[in-house]
Amino acid sequence: MKESLVIQANNLSKKYRLGTIGMTSLREDLSRWWTRSKNGIPKHGFDQAGIDPTRMINDHEFWALHDLNFEITRGEVVGLIGANGSGKSTLLKILSRITEPSEGKVKVKGKVASLLEVGTGFHPELTGRENVFVNGAILGMTRREVDKKFDEIVDFAGVADFIDTPIKRYSSGMTVRLGFAVAAHLEPDILIVDEVLAVGDLRFQNRCINQMKSIAESGKTVLFVSHQMATVENLCKSAFLLNMGQIIYSGKTSDVIKKYREDMEESANLPISQRMIREGSGKCKLSGIEFRNDQNKVVDSLISGKSATIKLFFDIYEEITAPMSLSLGISNSTHVRIAHLCMKTFGKWILPTSQKSFQVNLSLSKLELNQGKYYVTSFLDDESGQIIDWVTDAFVINVLQSDFYGTGMVPPTSQSIFLMDHSFSF
Ligand SMILES: Nc1ncnc2c1ncn2[C@@H]1O[C@H](COP(=O)(O)OP(=O)(O)O)[C@@H](O)[C@H]1O
Ligand SMILES: [Mg+2]
Repeated sequence: MKESLVIQANNLSKKYRLGTIGMTSLREDLSRWWTRSKNGIPKHGFDQAGIDPTRMINDHEFWALHDLNFEITRGEVVGLIGANGSGKSTLLKILSRITEPSEGKVKVKGKVASLLEVGTGFHPELTGRENVFVNGAILGMTRREVDKKFDEIVDFAGVADFIDTPIKRYSSGMTVRLGFAVAAHLEPDILIVDEVLAVGDLRFQNRCINQMKSIAESGKTVLFVSHQMATVENLCKSAFLLNMGQIIYSGKTSDVIKKYREDMEESANLPISQRMIREGSGKCKLSGIEFRNDQNKVVDSLISGKSATIKLFFDIYEEITAPMSLSLGISNSTHVRIAHLCMKTFGKWILPTSQKSFQVNLSLSKLELNQGKYYVTSFLDDESGQIIDWVTDAFVINVLQSDFYGTGMVPPTSQSIFLMDHSFSF
C-alpha cells in the first residue's frame, strides 16, 4: 500500500443472512430496539424483507456490501452518504474490525477509534471512568497516557458528576458525549463516527465537528456518516455515495450530495408501492397517498395556511396480529428533519383487521409550512416495535405560497420554513 494511504479496499464484500439474530447481532438488535422505543423512529432497520432482488445471493443471503474498491489518503475527511440500508454502517464496522468482510480485502493502517452506535465500546456495568481506561487500553495506550487525557475527556463530555456512575445509568446523550470524547481524544490515526451525534444537542454537535476538523488538520483521517447533509458538507472535503451496498459515486462532497438528492428525487417519482428503498417485514405497505384541500377536493399541492387532509393508503399482505402505529417524518428540501408526527404520541393505534387494506387520514387544521417542497418519510411499526414498512422520502408535499397572515401580503419564502400566527404590539 502506498505510503500516503491509510485505507485500501479491494473487491470488498459482505454478505448477511436474512433476519439473522446471531450472537453478534443480538446486542445490536437490542440496542436498536432500545433506540427505536426511545425515539419513535429507528436509526437503523434490521428486517430485510424489503431487500432489492438484485442484492440477493440466494433465498437466505444478500449482499450488504458488494465489490467495493476505494482508497483513503492520510488526513482526508470522508463522508459516507446513502439511504437507510445502503451499507454505510456495515462498511464502518468492517473498517473498525468489528466484523469481517465475506470476500475481498481491506488494509487499514494505524489505530482506529470508532463511535458506531449508542453504547458501542462501553461496558454497561463499568463506570464512565473505568470505560475510559478500558477504551484507552484497547487503543494500545498506557494508563499514564490515558491519565494525561482523562480530564480533557471528562470535560469535553460534560459528565464530571457521573464519571463514577455505571454507564448503564447514563442517558443516551451522555453516553454518546463520552463515547465521542474518548474516541476523539485517544489520538487515533483514523476516527470513525457513525450517525450517533444526532443524539446530542446542537452545541455538542458543533463542538464535535470542530474537534473532528482539528483532528483532520493534525493529519489524521476521519470517516463520517450523518443524515444531516449540511454537516457532511461542512466537515468533509470528499464523500462516497452508497446505494444498495455499492459505491456508485465519489468525489467532492457538494457533487456527491447533489447526486444523492437527484437519485432520491428520481426514486420519489416511482409509485409508492414500487419504491425499493424501504425496510420492514412488508406485512403491510404504504401503497398510495392523496392530498385534499380545505374544500375536500383532491389536489396536487397544498396551500400554506389552509387546512388540508393527507390520506395514506395501506395494503395488507399478511395477517396483522398486533396494533400498529404510523409516524411521519417531515424534512425540508435539503433533507433536514423539521417535524415528526406520531400516532403513539396520541395513544392511537391501528387495530388488527381482516380487511386487505386500510386508510389513515392526517388532518392539518392550518398548514404552517412556508412555500416549498417537503419530503415525508413514512414509518409503520407495531406495538412491540417491529418495523412493518419504512419508506424514506415516501412522498413530497408541495406547498404553495399564500397570504398566510391575512394581511394582504405573502410572507417571504427565503427567510423561514415555518410560519406561525403572531402579532406585534407597542
Ligand atoms: N447483523 C446483521 N445481520 C443481517 N443483516 C444486517 C445486519 N446488519 C445490517 N444488516 C442489513 O444490511 C443492510 C445494510 O445495513 P447498514 O450497513 O446498517 O446500512 P446503513 O447504515 O446504510 O443504513 C441492511 O439491509 C440491514 O438491514
Ligand atoms: Mg447505519
